[in-house]
Amino acid sequence: MFASNPMENRELWQQQVAGMSEIQDRGTRIIVALDYPDARSAMEFVSHVNPEQCRLKVGKELFTSAGPDFVKSLAGLGFDVFLDLKYHDIPNTVAKACRAAAGLDVWMLNVHALGGRRMLEAAAEAVTATARPPILVAVTILTSMDTADLKSIGLGKLPEEHVLQLATLASDCGLDGVVCSSREAPRIREQLGEEFLLVTPGIRPLGSQADDQRRVMTPADAVRNGSTYLVIGRPVTQADDPAAVLLTINSELAAL
Ligand code: C5P
Repeated sequence: MFASNPMENRELWQQQVAGMSEIQDRGTRIIVALDYPDARSAMEFVSHVNPEQCRLKVGKELFTSAGPDFVKSLAGLGFDVFLDLKYHDIPNTVAKACRAAAGLDVWMLNVHALGGRRMLEAAAEAVTATARPPILVAVTILTSMDTADLKSIGLGKLPEEHVLQLATLASDCGLDGVVCSSREAPRIREQLGEEFLLVTPGIRPLGSQADDQRRVMTPADAVRNGSTYLVIGRPVTQADDPAAVLLTINSELAAL
């Protein structure tokens, strides 16, 4: 029912939601990682999906190549956009970057929890002061880092202990949640409660390839483990029929 032209998609989507008082619940849990090199290839994918089926994540590569206007145009098409730039700098600089990101009408943005309490508080304060505050989440420890990597930069605890400590700090500083592995989700959920948002990559629907991900989990298992939103890239973006993959996952999750 959705057209290949994104502008037509937007109109169809707006017509669809016009009669609804509110999109039920929080809407779809799926955030598709737009890991494309440029605006043209990303938009080609976007033309096949709609905001009811998925939200969209723009990371460093696409943002650097396509720019802020592209992010705004995705929001203009009705999509919830997660701007995944992982800000990490002095408090004043991060606060200003967060304010600028909110000006792009993004739905979610993130910072590194390793920036510390003052940086996290400055980010939360800056976001809260905007007209329509986006969700603010923190990256704790990058899942690419193991115990030896952490030790080499002077962090001597186990990765999961650092993750829990940084997630607790993010919560204390007023952030809405963290990006974490779905394996870490149960402990964080137990410690920080039901409202804290857990955004988890490393998701693979049954039958799809692991690609370069080492430890993967199915969408249903991730949600059972406490994930709020699932970041999914290649299983959707490389699929012959992305909308069909999204439909399958959304239906599976709705049935939980
Ligand atoms: O294609 P795939 O589903 O593996 O993409 C996952 C997305 O989530 C990518 O954009 C990747 O950079 C991001 N991500 C991740 N693991 C993390 C943090 C982010 O895979 N720990």
